[in-house]
Amino acid sequence: MKVSIIGSGYVGSVSAACFAELGHEVICIDVDEEKVKMINAGKAPIWEEGLDGLLQKHSQKTLIATSDYEYAVANSDLSFICVGTPSGEDGGIDLSIVKAASASLGAAIGKKEGYHVVVVKSTVVPETTEKVVLPIVEEFSGKKAGRDFGVAMNPEFLREGKAVYDFMHPDKIVVGAIDERSGFAVAELYRGLDCTVTRTNPRTAEMIKYVNNSFLATKISFANEVGNICKQLGIDTYEVMDAVGTDFRIERRFLNCGAGFGGSCFPKDVRALIGKAKGMGYEPQLLDSVVAVNERQPLRMVELLQRKLGHINGKRIAVLGLAFKNDTDDIRESRSIPVIAELLRLEAIVTAYDPMAAGNMKRIFGNITYCSTSSEALSGADGCLVMTEWEEFGKLDREFEGMKEKIVIDGRHLLKPEKLTARIDYEGICW
Ligand code: UDX
Repeated sequence: MKVSIIGSGYVGSVSAACFAELGHEVICIDVDEEKVKMINAGKAPIWEEGLDGLLQKHSQKTLIATSDYEYAVANSDLSFICVGTPSGEDGGIDLSIVKAASASLGAAIGKKEGYHVVVVKSTVVPETTEKVVLPIVEEFSGKKAGRDFGVAMNPEFLREGKAVYDFMHPDKIVVGAIDERSGFAVAELYRGLDCTVTRTNPRTAEMIKYVNNSFLATKISFANEVGNICKQLGIDTYEVMDAVGTDFRIERRFLNCGAGFGGSCFPKDVRALIGKAKGMGYEPQLLDSVVAVNERQPLRMVELLQRKLGHINGKRIAVLGLAFKNDTDDIRESRSIPVIAELLRLEAIVTAYDPMAAGNMKRIFGNITYCSTSSEALSGADGCLVMTEWEEFGKLDREFEGMKEKIVIDGRHLLKPEKLTARIDYEGICW
C-alpha cells in the first residue's frame, strides 16, 4: 500500500521506517527541510534503537521524504498525522500543530481525485478526530468525510528507546474509523503482525490510548503509595510486589516503586484525561491522586536527605541521573527536575552526572555543575541522590569512597549496599 506520514518526529519517523519494513511505499512529509534532507540521506532525525538501520535500508527505495503535501497525497492512499501535541498552558493538549497539519492535508486532498484516508496517530483527547480534524479537512478540501475521504484514529503504544521493536511486535492494534472502508484500509497496513486488532470508532480509539497510559501511571503511583507505607512498617515493598505480581490479574510489571514516572507521555496524558473529565464537570479523584503521588515522590528523596544531613544549605549534593528513564537523553518531566529545583531552593551546591542527558538539562539548570563521570560528581559530596535507572549506577562502589559524608538515597532500587566494599549510609526512597 502507499502511505504518507505527516511529521518526522519520534512517532512519525518510527512509523515511516516500520511501514517501509512491512513492505509499503512510504512518503514522509515534514515542514522542516533539515529533517527531509536527513531522511532522504538515510539518517534518523531522532535517536531510536534500530531506526537508522531501517532508514538506510529503505531510503530512496520505498521511503522518501518531502515538504510537498500535494505530491505526497497524490501519491499515497492514506495519510497519517503524527505531529506533536504538547501540553497547553491549562494542562490540556495544544492542538495547534494538529490543526495546521489537518488544514494542509485538507488542501491537498481537495486537489486529489479519488478517495483518501486521513489517519490520526498523534495522541489526542477523545472527540478530537471527529470534532477537530474531520471538520478542518472538510473545510480545506471542500469534500465530504465518509463519502470522498475516510477518517480514522490509530494510536501508538511505543516505548521510547524500544519504539522500533514495539512497532514490529505490538500487543494490539487499535483502529477507530468513521466508515468501514477506511477502517479496513488502516488494519490492512498491519497485516502480517501477529496481535489483537481492535476495530472501533475514533473516540473509543482515542480513549484506549489515554486509559492504557493512565492505567500504567496508576500502577506506578499505587506502587509508590504502597512503598511509602511499607517503608514505615519496615517491610520490603519489592518482596510484597514480587508476590502480589504473580497474580495474573495484576501482573508484576510497572509495580516498581521509586522516584515516580516522567517522560513525554504518562504525565501529559494523565493530565489531559483529567482536563477532559473536568471540562465535562466530572472530578476524577483517582487520577488526581495519581498525579499528586507522582509529584510528591521525588521530593521525599530530598526530605530523606535533609533528615540525615540536618540541613541542606551549603551542602554538596551529587544528583546521579537526569534522563526520565535509562537509555535515553530525554529529560521531559524527569523526576530529577523537581529534585534539583528543590535542592537549589534549599541552597545546596549541586553536581550532576548523566551518561546522555546533561546537554538537555543545561537548558533548564544553567547554574549547576555538570560532571563527565559519577566519580567526579561524587567527589567531595555530602549526599547523593540516584534518580534514573541507568545500569551503570547499579555497578557503583569504590566511587562512593570519594564522598565526604557518604549518604546515598536510592530512588530506583539499584544499589545493593550489603554487597558494596565502600561503606555508605544507604537509604531507599521506599525501602
Ligand atoms: C510510555 C509507555 O510505556 C508507552 O506505551 C507509551 O506509548 C508512551 O509512554 P515511555 O514514556 O517511553 O513509554 O516510558 P516507560 O518505559 O513506560 O517508563 C515511563 C516512566 O515510568 C519512567 O520514568 C520510569 O522510570 C517510570 N517507571 C516505570 C516506574 O517508576 N516504575 C515502573 O515500575 C515502571
